[in-house]
Amino acid sequence: MTPADPSASAQPPATASFVVVANRLPVDRVEHPDGSVDWRTSPGGLVTAFEPVMRRHDGAWVGWHGAPDEEVAPFENDGLQLVPVPLSASEVEEYYEGFSNTTLWPLYHDVIAAPEFHREWWDAYVVVNQRFADATAAVAEQGAVVWVQDYQLQLVPAMLRRQRPDLRIGFFLHIPFPPTELYQQLPWRNQILEGLLGADLVGFQVSGGAQNFLRLVRARLRQETHRDEIRAADGRTVVARSYPISIDTAGLAELAAAPATAERAAEIRRDLGDPKVLFLGVDRLDYTKGLLARLRAFGELIDDGALELDEVAFVQVATPSRERVDEYRQLRDDMDRLVGRINGDIGRIGRPPITYLHSSYPREEMAALYRAADVMVVTPLRDGMNLVAKEYVACRQADDGALVLSEFAGAAKELRQAYLVNPYDINGMKDRLVEAMDDSPRNKARRMRVMRRQVAEHDIDHWATTFLDDLAQAQPTAD
Ligand code: ADP
Ligand code: G6P
Repeated sequence: MTPADPSASAQPPATASFVVVANRLPVDRVEHPDGSVDWRTSPGGLVTAFEPVMRRHDGAWVGWHGAPDEEVAPFENDGLQLVPVPLSASEVEEYYEGFSNTTLWPLYHDVIAAPEFHREWWDAYVVVNQRFADATAAVAEQGAVVWVQDYQLQLVPAMLRRQRPDLRIGFFLHIPFPPTELYQQLPWRNQILEGLLGADLVGFQVSGGAQNFLRLVRARLRQETHRDEIRAADGRTVVARSYPISIDTAGLAELAAAPATAERAAEIRRDLGDPKVLFLGVDRLDYTKGLLARLRAFGELIDDGALELDEVAFVQVATPSRERVDEYRQLRDDMDRLVGRINGDIGRIGRPPITYLHSSYPREEMAALYRAADVMVVTPLRDGMNLVAKEYVACRQADDGALVLSEFAGAAKELRQAYLVNPYDINGMKDRLVEAMDDSPRNKARRMRVMRRQVAEHDIDHWATTFLDDLAQAQPTAD
């Protein structure tokens, strides 16, 4: 591994009383061909959600910096104390692309793609989880609160507890926890349950996930449970409960309300030829997000004559994601082909029905897109929560606009007033898109008002406070 100097200010390693551990740091290290180095915001909802949490709780963030074969010293970036964990190129392949994203990700998302099980990937997962546990043990003060995140690090709670019984350990899973029948396919099913039980509090997005976990702990590990409490093998009590994650609602609403955002939103609409109705999709380019079916539904609506080509536009923003994993490469090709076909078949000069943008944008641009869109289309086949749905709602201060939302996103449990769809049902989706578009302003406002209140009251602060308060009440730890 080659040592690398971060462009941000280097700091001596320090200890912290609050430590967040996630596969990724909030920034990725990017090296340009001329050798210069940049730090770029990492993709995905976990980072969106956690940045504001870390700004309010002084602490350290332990995670990978996104580049293989490089050791980076702990450093401060934009006020956050970051502790990089190195991964070799083969660990990126086996632990990150392999076990995390080709075994666990599809298994936990309803096996939408077939999970692959390889023993070498598991071995790498164990080695890397141990490295994260060691790095965390080194920065956590005596009695510190440690909050471990997501499916890439499910063994860390137990590994950490073995080294540091003085810590208070929380774990939160950002993706769905699967039904027991699917979970049981995993050759290492018991080890992962035991890994999670190293925590004092295990959090899930929705109550169904917590229930699946409790059921598995009873059936597979033969441990007693009472409501949401588990009596662990070492006599500790572990709590498993749901905490629906959220966004920095007030911060985003303020950005959306800014005059510059309004101007940019108007400009976006003008550049699209001032459509009467602007549909918007915003996702990581992931097969769980239901992108193909959604665009197919939209294309068919124009083809059928239910939508007028001159009156509508669909903007689909798709952040590049996990580009070396086969299923993601395949999806990228499928998207290119589908968008090309729809635009080629039914578009005309100056009026491509779909504008497809395969890149990442700053928050200001995202807020302008949300403001510009009349119908937000969020149709994942399965999603732990989906922050995009909440972000759209937060940006609609005039209580206009419509959210079409998959029943299979965790967010659907809270945003009941969305136009809910089964993303596998293309005809049903077409009907809902038209209904959302044509509904009266009064109905739209009524729905949006209730949803806006929900995301205002249940924002990321509320989420973090609820979880951390519960964690603080966990049984006292050893001295
Ligand atoms: P996931 O965590 O699976 O990616 P979420 O919807 O929960 O899905 O979170 C996605 C986050 O990434 C949101 O905060 C969203 O604003 C952000 N995002 C998605 N696409 C883009 C993009 N093209 N540019 C910038 N941010 C994006
Ligand atoms: C989801 C996962 C996160 C992950 C993010 C981006 O939100 O829950 O753990 O960080 O996607 O994916 P990536 O593989 O690029 O980190």
